[in-house]
Amino acid sequence: MRPLIVANWKMNKTPEEAASFMEKIAKYQEEMNPNCDIAICAPFICLDICVEKSKQGRIKIGAQNCHFEKSGAFTGEISAYMLSKIGVKFTILGHSERRQYFAETSETVNLKVKSSLKSGLDVIICVGESLEQKSTAQKIIFTQLELALLGVDIADLPRICIAYEPIWAIGSNKIEWFKRSGEICMKIRSMLGEIYDSPAAASLVKILYGGSVNSSNLISVLSEPDIDGALVGNASLVSDEFLKIIECARGVKRS
Ligand code: PGA
Repeated sequence: MRPLIVANWKMNKTPEEAASFMEKIAKYQEEMNPNCDIAICAPFICLDICVEKSKQGRIKIGAQNCHFEKSGAFTGEISAYMLSKIGVKFTILGHSERRQYFAETSETVNLKVKSSLKSGLDVIICVGESLEQKSTAQKIIFTQLELALLGVDIADLPRICIAYEPIWAIGSNKIEWFKRSGEICMKIRSMLGEIYDSPAAASLVKILYGGSVNSSNLISVLSEPDIDGALVGNASLVSDEFLKIIECARGVKRS
């Protein structure tokens, strides 16, 4: 699968800062590594300007969350349907920071996955264990996957990416765990086959790794055969570093 590099800006950047980032990236459009797909998940208030600035290029713009109802009395929320109407192409769902700080559950992730797909948005579903859950990581991840994908048709799997993000690796700069993450991503693939009772399901989904990825470790991440790309937080905030990360994926050979 073609590598996919996704920036997760989290709660960073004003629309002005987002515009300046997009302009800097656009300058390198011509010489940018053609061998990978690129996406940026911006805060809600920056989505409009990012969509506008990416119109001529190949960078897809995504959100970091959405509400599962189309519209209604949900103060402070933005629906998948609304996002689809401004040119957003996908959304991250179930990020551990949302599970940890905003009471996101695998049940609400499931509602959001179905509503996003229905609205025409592709999704990145985040799964991963905390440090305390490390010894039972596979069991935790299986449950997260099974619940998030409940009622999701196998035909929709090509529109879904799974991001494996061990919570303890996010923002930690720990790089020695990529080998283990590669093994977990391989397990995630077989879990998908099990959940859908079809070995084919495993090959339909892109699996990303997230947690302290940057330009000096991306090659190690992508050298794991079951890791198809990266979800990059901190290192995606500065355009030069993000461009370097994209460049690093140039040598990665994938079918
Ligand atoms: P990080 O964040 O790259 O800063 O570790 C990744 C994420 O949380 O998606």
